[in-house]
Amino acid sequence: MIRLKDNAYKSYSLCKMQESDFVFVKTFLDTQRSKLEHIEFFYPYKDEELRAVLTDGCFWGLFDNDRLIATFAIDFDEEYASTLANLINSFNDIGLKRAYESSGLMVDEDYRGQGVAGFMMSLACEEAQRRGIAICGVVHTQNVASMSTFFSRGFEMRATWRMCEGYDFIYLLKRYDKSYFNNQNLSFKKVLQLEKNGVKIDNVIGVANTHTQEHNDLLSAGYAGVGCQDTTIYFRKKE
Ligand SMILES: CC(C)(COP(=O)(O)OP(=O)(O)OC[C@H]1O[C@@H](n2cnc3c(N)ncnc32)[C@H](O)[C@@H]1OP(=O)(O)O)[C@@H](O)C(=O)NCCC(=O)NCCS
Repeated sequence: MIRLKDNAYKSYSLCKMQESDFVFVKTFLDTQRSKLEHIEFFYPYKDEELRAVLTDGCFWGLFDNDRLIATFAIDFDEEYASTLANLINSFNDIGLKRAYESSGLMVDEDYRGQGVAGFMMSLACEEAQRRGIAICGVVHTQNVASMSTFFSRGFEMRATWRMCEGYDFIYLLKRYDKSYFNNQNLSFKKVLQLEKNGVKIDNVIGVANTHTQEHNDLLSAGYAGVGCQDTTIYFRKKE
């Protein structure tokens, strides 16, 4: 691993993980996944996928002294990036050429709820901005903690995938390949705040996070998922 920064977030150090860290990283992910109440929330890497992201992607590890406490990555596989873009365009053609998958978001259960995932997400966004690319996270539709982390950094839900009953995933996209894209968004928090103050914001629709067919209908009609709360995902018509 390469040490990038001490005290990068609170007193934790940031490292870039490499292929030689394969066993270390896999052990961390497997151990943390086995402790999850819903293991389906973290879709595990195949060994060759993890090796490829460690070798060719950007794989960050956050450490509390010598203890690995969080991971997140961007996969630069071009072919998969095209596949993801095509899938997103098939719901609503937004002219996306590539969407590079962000994956491996895991925070040690002892360190959750203190903004660590938000910090890891900011790293990925900065890297995507630096490279001028779009990134995309694939999240289980009931994983509110993970969806919130993406939504609050301006990601938009743009597609869905049903693996099988109970295994529905959503695709959360953030674009830096087009500079205008992000500036037009009214943040979801702002929307809720305005609504609470009695200001009606048009075209915001809440749908239960399990109602995939309704999500698909809205996505095809030009809406994007912009936020979530409890068991509801909120959609807004895009310009
Ligand atoms: C999802 C996960 C990475 C979040 O990590 P975390 O460090 O606890 O998250 P943070 O403290 O940075 O919070 C990030 C956002 O999620 C929200 N959030 C965190 N936990 C939440 C929960 N249990 N319920 C609802 N929202 C939650 C926070 O309020 C915060 O929102 P904000 O940015 O709008 O303020 C962590 O719960 C985890 O590792 N889960 C298991 C693995 C997993 O599901 N990975 C994602 C795979 S796609």
